Amino acid sequence: MDWKETMEKALQEAAWPSVQQLKSAIETLNLSVEKVAGAIANPGSLPYGRTSLYRTPETEAVLIHLPQGRETYIHDHGYSIGCAKVLEGTIANRIYRLDAYGYPVYAGETIIEPGSFYSSPKGQIHQLRNVGYGRAVSFHLYAPALSGGKNYYPYEQVLDFVI
Ligand SMILES: [Fe+2]
Repeated sequence: MDWKETMEKALQEAAWPSVQQLKSAIETLNLSVEKVAGAIANPGSLPYGRTSLYRTPETEAVLIHLPQGRETYIHDHGYSIGCAKVLEGTIANRIYRLDAYGYPVYAGETIIEPGSFYSSPKGQIHQLRNVGYGRAVSFHLYAPALSGGKNYYPYEQVLDFVI
């Protein structure tokens, strides 16, 4: 059984999986960076590598490669919840809230070491940053498949465009 079948089986019981069920599904895969090596993408139109490994209406699996010092945009996941496992490197999960004008305000972060997980409950706004000394690779599972996700730009950045 390949990993996609294993994951489908793990998710079969849950029509609308919880964050905890997504985590359990990832755990059943026994992923390692070696297993996904062939799917690791380099940055292209994004400042990081992104590979959609698997997508049905119910779930989507994505592999993220953050080169040293890189970060994602500040974003939400639309209607989806998510869970991810760091396979290599060290990632800061930076959490944001919106101010009264809709600009993202930094609200704290957790450091995720290799082999560890983090979760994104519905509506969470966050940014992932590689804070280690080499590349960072992480496996993400979302339910339902990603749609309607939004990027957010800090006030200072938006100001740069105007002035
Ligand atoms: Fe995210």
